[in-house]
Amino acid sequence: MNDFDPFDPDTLADPAPGWRVLLDEHPVHYYADFDPPFYCLSRYQDVDAALRDIETFSSEHGQGPRVTPPQGMLSNPPQHTFFRGLVQQAFTPRVIAALSDRIIAISHELADAIEAGDPEFDLHDDYAAPLPVIVISELLGVPADHRRQFKAWSDAQVAAMGAPDPTAYAAPMAELAAYLMDHIATRRRLLGSEQSGDADVPDDLTTALLRARTESGQQLSDDDVLSVASQLLVGGNETTTSLITNLMWRVLQVPARWQRLVEEPDLIERAIEESLRYDPPVLGLYRTTTRDVRLHGTTIPEGAKVYLIYAAANRDQRTFANPDEFQLDRPRGRHLAFGLGVHFCLGAQLARLEARVAVRTLCERLSSLTLVDDGQRIAPFFLWGRSRLPVRR
Ligand code: HEM
Repeated sequence: MNDFDPFDPDTLADPAPGWRVLLDEHPVHYYADFDPPFYCLSRYQDVDAALRDIETFSSEHGQGPRVTPPQGMLSNPPQHTFFRGLVQQAFTPRVIAALSDRIIAISHELADAIEAGDPEFDLHDDYAAPLPVIVISELLGVPADHRRQFKAWSDAQVAAMGAPDPTAYAAPMAELAAYLMDHIATRRRLLGSEQSGDADVPDDLTTALLRARTESGQQLSDDDVLSVASQLLVGGNETTTSLITNLMWRVLQVPARWQRLVEEPDLIERAIEESLRYDPPVLGLYRTTTRDVRLHGTTIPEGAKVYLIYAAANRDQRTFANPDEFQLDRPRGRHLAFGLGVHFCLGAQLARLEARVAVRTLCERLSSLTLVDDGQRIAPFFLWGRSRLPVRR
């Protein structure tokens, strides 16, 4: 098969056989049926090298298959360094660790509602989707009653990246931007009155982003904070939901596997890493070449979009033993689910914490879970998760 097609319905339903063909036979694959056409890299060593070589494989034109202008952290140094440095000041390991108790409480509230409802329920809708939305909206200080809307907007933003007609999503994206801008402006006003001594400013990520400054005193503008907040929302919601659903799906597919996890919850951390390797929620992202690149006998021309397939690299037999086997207790390896290098996922620790808590609560509260069927795949071709996962308690 020299015609690997990421949009083919069979590939969408189960991309792994396609990864094997790319890995074994077409390490540089040209996909012509997209505007613009793009190249695919699949081998671990090639994806790893491309992620490290940010001068040749640039993020300046977006992470998706289309050419977009640099925006916030979706850029190269020095813009990327400026943004990432300020966001890291606000999004520290201490801030994330402090969320642990709250995440445990949310997971138990969701389990309470499940126990009070029908024995058959949707693990996506009733558990894995609300958890990260609640966490990120509380982190940003967005009122609780707007969360459903928040989720719809962030899903639209993600879907627009890989959709044939991204303009279809222009309206929800503009609504999200207007909503966040209003939130930022309100917070900016509060910070202004704080300086005049008569306001209590909520201690959340929006405030921290507005206060962060570089050593030379540079700060983020309101537009910058908007771009960061929407990147956190888009990068952190559906991906974390997919991690929880993908892991539970694979584990429940083999009832003995679920039983083992319930009996040995210390395996949860390894199971999360194995799920990230085997079923990464982001299958791959794009870079744009800044010069001709000669690789495995093919020249990728300057200015080409290159799809770096993290999911394929995670199945490379040169790096992982028996890569197509899901092993609950596989020793932790260097999977690429969170990318690598300067753009390595800023939310990786938060995502791992949420998944750990979510799965542990299910082991404790809903240990007799069984899978009803495989549900349905989420739509965007470069993401991997279940939009429905029917289960019985
Ligand atoms: C399982 C869940 C997650 C997965 C699989 C994931 C995956 C990724 C990947 C692959 C990248 C690298 C992008 C690139 O190479 O261009 C990335 C970057 C990023 N992620 Fe995540 N992510 C997850 C959760 C989160 C969460 C919870 C947040 C925040 C709340 C977040 C925020 C970000 C941000 C801001 C970046 C950009 C970093 C930069 O360019 O410097 N992610 N993520």
